[in-house]
Amino acid sequence: MRIPRNVVERVRDTSDILSIVQDYVRLKKAGSNYLGLCPFHREKTPSFNVSPANGFFKCFGCGKGGDTITFVMEIERLEFVDAIRWLADRAGIEIPKTEEGKKAYDKRESVYEALRFASEYYVGKLNDPASGAQAREYLLGRALTEKTISRFSVGYAPDSWDGLIKAAEKAHIKLETLKKAGLVIERQDGKGYYDRFRERIMFPIQSHVGKFVGFGGRLLADNPKAPKYLNSPETEVYHKSTVLYGLFQSKRMARQEASILLVEGYTDVLALDQAGIGSAACCGTALTLQQVGLLGRYAKEIRLLYDADRAGAAATERAIDVVLQGGVAASVVSLPEGEDPDSFVREKGADAFRLHLKTATKDWVDAFFLASLSDNGFGTLHKKRQAISKVAQRIAYMKDDILRKMYVQKASQLFAISERDMAYEITRQASSNQAQQQPSQTLREENASAAPVNFDAISESEKTLLQLMLEEGAPMIKYILGNMAYDEFQEGPSQRLVDLLIETHEAHGDEVQSAFRSGKANADEITQQLIVDILMPRHEISKGWGAKKINVPRLNEKSKRIAEDCMMRVKGAVVKREIQRVRHEMMNAPEGSEDRGRLQKKYLNQKRYLLRINNRKLFED
Ligand code: GTP
Ligand code: MN
Repeated sequence: MRIPRNVVERVRDTSDILSIVQDYVRLKKAGSNYLGLCPFHREKTPSFNVSPANGFFKCFGCGKGGDTITFVMEIERLEFVDAIRWLADRAGIEIPKTEEGKKAYDKRESVYEALRFASEYYVGKLNDPASGAQAREYLLGRALTEKTISRFSVGYAPDSWDGLIKAAEKAHIKLETLKKAGLVIERQDGKGYYDRFRERIMFPIQSHVGKFVGFGGRLLADNPKAPKYLNSPETEVYHKSTVLYGLFQSKRMARQEASILLVEGYTDVLALDQAGIGSAACCGTALTLQQVGLLGRYAKEIRLLYDADRAGAAATERAIDVVLQGGVAASVVSLPEGEDPDSFVREKGADAFRLHLKTATKDWVDAFFLASLSDNGFGTLHKKRQAISKVAQRIAYMKDDILRKMYVQKASQLFAISERDMAYEITRQASSNQAQQQPSQTLREENASAAPVNFDAISESEKTLLQLMLEEGAPMIKYILGNMAYDEFQEGPSQRLVDLLIETHEAHGDEVQSAFRSGKANADEITQQLIVDILMPRHEISKGWGAKKINVPRLNEKSKRIAEDCMMRVKGAVVKREIQRVRHEMMNAPEGSEDRGRLQKKYLNQKRYLLRINNRKLFED
C-alpha cells in the first residue's frame, strides 16, 4: 500500500537517527559524529559512523550507509513501506489509509490476528492441566525447558473437531478468516468446517520479524495412519519458500556469530536454542534462494547440519548448491550415523555439542570430496568425472576472484587434476550456470539496494565541490556551477548529483539544503549513496563549516577559497588529460600536415588555459 509522500517526509523529519541506531549499537561521540562497531559486519575496531546533523549513517568497513529509513530496512530487514510504518509507530505518527488500501490491509491484518489468536489458544491448552498434561509430559520428556517452550510459543491442539472454531467464535473471529489462515478445513459434505490441527504439539511458524504466519503440528501419540508432522497450507500470509523457522529467535545470534546453522526439524531448532546455539529450519520444503538471501542478511556463512541419514545427505548436497548460488559461504557439520541435532544435544549436552561444532565443521568442498568417496574410492572414473563437474559448477557460482582461485587450488588437489583443467571446467560450468540461473534474478534484485558502491574514482576535489554545494546551498551552487562546465564533472553519479542539485535548486530555491536533508530531492539509489559518501567523509575536510552554515545568504570567504582551490584542481586535471590526449594525437599526425597544425594550436590553447587556471584568473563572483 502506498504511503502519502508528506507522511514519508514527516517520518523522515521526526525520526532521530541517533536514538534509533543506539537501540542497536553502542555509540561514542567523536567530533560532530558518533562512532561504534558496525552492526552489519563483524569488526573489532569501530568504523560505523553516525552523523546526527545530516541524519546519516555510514560504515567505512563494509560500505553500508544511508538515512534512518535505510538503517531500519537493513537492521530489521524490512521493505521500504514497512520501515516507514515501523518508524511511524515509534514516533506516534498515524498513517492515513485510503479506503481501498485500508480494506486490503485490514484483511491481511485480520488473518495475522487469527493466527496470533490460534497460537494463544494452543498455548492456553498446553498450560491447562485438564487438556495439556500429556503434551507437557511429552515435551518435558524431550528435555525441553519451560523457558524454551515459551520462547517458541509451543502449544497443544487438543483432541477436538471444533475447539479452535468455538473459541474463535467467542472472540468474534470470522470462520472465513480462520479459513484464510489455514486453520480450518471444509467438510466433505460442504456443511461446515473442522479444526485442521487436532491432538498435536503445535510449533507456531513466525516470520523473521516475529509475525505468526503458520503452524507445524506434531502427532502426540504415534499413529502410523497419520503424518507425523502436519503443516499449515500456503496462505496469503504464509509462503513456505520465504520463511525460516526459528530465524526470529536466532537472528541476533546469527549476526553476532556471522554464521547460522541450518537444520531439518522444529525440534532441532528448539534443542539447539536451548543450548545457546542459533539455528533455523525450512518448513517441509527444500531450501530456496529467497531463504538464502534472507539468511545472508544476518550471516556470512550457512552451516548445514542435517540429519545423519540418506535423506539428510541428499538434502545437504542440494542445499550447498543453493547457498553458494545465493552468494553465501557454505559449510557442513557431520553427525554420527543415525543422529539428528536434537538427539545429539540431548545425549551429549550443550558443551560437548559446541565442541563438536568446532571440530566437525568442514568446508563444503572437503565435505563434498568425502561424500563422493565410497569404500573403493570414487568407484569408477566416470563417477569421479561427475564429481569434478559438480565441484566446478559450485566454484563457478563464486564472484570473488581470490576466493575462486583458492577453491581451484584446493579442489584440484583433492581430485588430483591440474589447476588448469579445473579452471577450464569451471569456465565451462559457468556458462551453463548462466543459462539455467533464472531464479536468482529476484534475489539479485532484492539485494541490489544493499550493494555498496565505491566512489574512489571521483577525486577528492570534485567531492569537496559537491559537498560544498550540498552543505551551503544556493549561493555556493550558483558560484560553483557558474564557474564549472557540466562535463568537467565526472560522468556517472557525479554528473547525476549535479543534475539533481540544479533541479532541486530550481524547485526549492534558497531552501535547497533543507530539501536535501528532508529527502525532498529525488535522488536515485546510487546518487543517494554518493550524497552519503560525500557528507560523511573519512576525514572531515570541511570541519566547522557545513552543518552550522545553513541559510547563510552570503558566501563564506573561507569556503569560497576552498571552492576555488578545488575548481582549479578539477579543471586542471581535466585539462591535463586533454593536453596529453592532444599531444599524443599531434605526435601521430604527419609533420607539416593540416591536422598537425590544428592540433598544435589546440595544444597551445590548452596550455594557456592551464596557466590561467593555475593563476586563478578564472573565477567570477
Ligand atoms: P521428532 O521425531 O519429533 O524428533 O522430529 P524430527 O524433527 O526429528 O522429525 P524428522 O527428522 O522426521 O523430520 C524433520 C522435519 O521434516 C520435521 O520437522 C518436519 O518439518 C518435516 N516432516 C517430518 N515428517 C513429516 C510429515 O509426515 N509430513 C510433513 N509435511 N513434514 C514432515
Ligand atoms: Mn528428531
